[in-house]
Amino acid sequence: MKAPRGTQDILPGTSEKWQYVENALIELCKKYNYREIRTPIFEHTELFQRGVGDTTDIVQKEMYTFEDRGGRSLTLRPEGTASVVRSFVEHKVFGHPMQPTKLFYIGPMFRYERPQQGRMRQFYQFGIEALGSADPAIDAEVMALAMAAYQELGLKSLKLVINSLGDSESRKQHREALIKHFDPHREELCEDCQVRLDKNPLRVLDCKKDREHPAMETAPSVLDYLNEESSEYFEQVKSYLDVMEIPYVVDKNLVRGLDYYNHTAFEIMSDAEGFGAITTLSGGGRYNGLVEDMGGPETPGIGFALSIERLLMALEAEGIELPVNEGIDCYFVALGDQAEKEAVRLTYQLRKAGVQVDKDYLGRKIKSQFKSADRLKAKYVIVLGENELEAGQANVKFMETGEQKEVSLTELVTYLKNELAGGN
Ligand code: HAM
Repeated sequence: MKAPRGTQDILPGTSEKWQYVENALIELCKKYNYREIRTPIFEHTELFQRGVGDTTDIVQKEMYTFEDRGGRSLTLRPEGTASVVRSFVEHKVFGHPMQPTKLFYIGPMFRYERPQQGRMRQFYQFGIEALGSADPAIDAEVMALAMAAYQELGLKSLKLVINSLGDSESRKQHREALIKHFDPHREELCEDCQVRLDKNPLRVLDCKKDREHPAMETAPSVLDYLNEESSEYFEQVKSYLDVMEIPYVVDKNLVRGLDYYNHTAFEIMSDAEGFGAITTLSGGGRYNGLVEDMGGPETPGIGFALSIERLLMALEAEGIELPVNEGIDCYFVALGDQAEKEAVRLTYQLRKAGVQVDKDYLGRKIKSQFKSADRLKAKYVIVLGENELEAGQANVKFMETGEQKEVSLTELVTYLKNELAGGN
């Protein structure tokens, strides 16, 4: 049996990297004051149809949808924003005195896509959502956090690409221009785009099949249709990025693949050599209107999400080693039945005292037990044989220098705790 296509097992040796990255992201959120939200892995299918949008690739082709035994249509979440907004409305979080509501999440998402490097069917997203503020400074904050998520791990080859999709009035103007532009080419476009052209012409712009069609390049850009208010908003967002000295480029063709966006849209790309074909590390944007669509009061929102898979790929491409798999504190080597019993007792005591310790469970000879200690990169090896036991002592070896010391069994825990606290 093999794991399903597009999924992966994360085994020890790699899982430490995941933990390290996840902890770093959680610490980052503390600095920016985003608090964790955990929502279900599956939701009512309708949530994503309404939230992400009926004409998007995600809803049309990529959802893992199933009927449960009660005949309800459920879907494994393809992204986090719709769920967070649903929860925000359901629990009336908008009524809480502390606004804006700043949330983060980490967890698996599911999309039935063609797997390739950096594109999985089950992937892990870290994302944040800030609900309740229409201040352009918070757009800049979200982008600052998104960039910091990579920078704090040492990544350098990053590019922040931004665009504005404008408010609903600007989008309406742009929509009309798109229809006018693409209509003469209707027959040359793929079947999906012909439908998109009627339902949601913006989606034509991120069609994977029609990407090379000449009409794509000359398509009207939303930036040219921004009304004054939207333009001003975009200028403000940029000015806040400027004051933080966060470099960015404006790409007027950036539209994003989900329907809820308006105003600010952004992506972070890796320009590291050897990163692979997919260069987008993360993406996000503003979604004023989504809370209302979910039955809540008028509430602006903005957020972004990254996948941990692509973040780890970027670290690899830039040759960054995370400080993980550093080894354990102690390994207990015991010889003989009595010593073995005492080793079990002392190992338990050491662990209770906060020392990281392991021992042999395969009845191995002393040489192989030392080999295990080496493999685990143990700082100290504690040896307890029949003779030591009789003398009420253990032999403690500091592996870095080879230095050895006989330590009374009654003082072993205190001794090792002190040694380890001493920074050895
Ligand atoms: P998205 O652009 O669909 O946006 O996904 C965000 C990120 O998730 C991508 O940039 C990429 O890193 C990662 N990702 C997406 N699909 C896959 C996949 N199949 N395999 C590996 N990684 C993948 C959203 O999901 C929005 N909810 C982001 C957002 C939050 N906007 C506002 N708030």
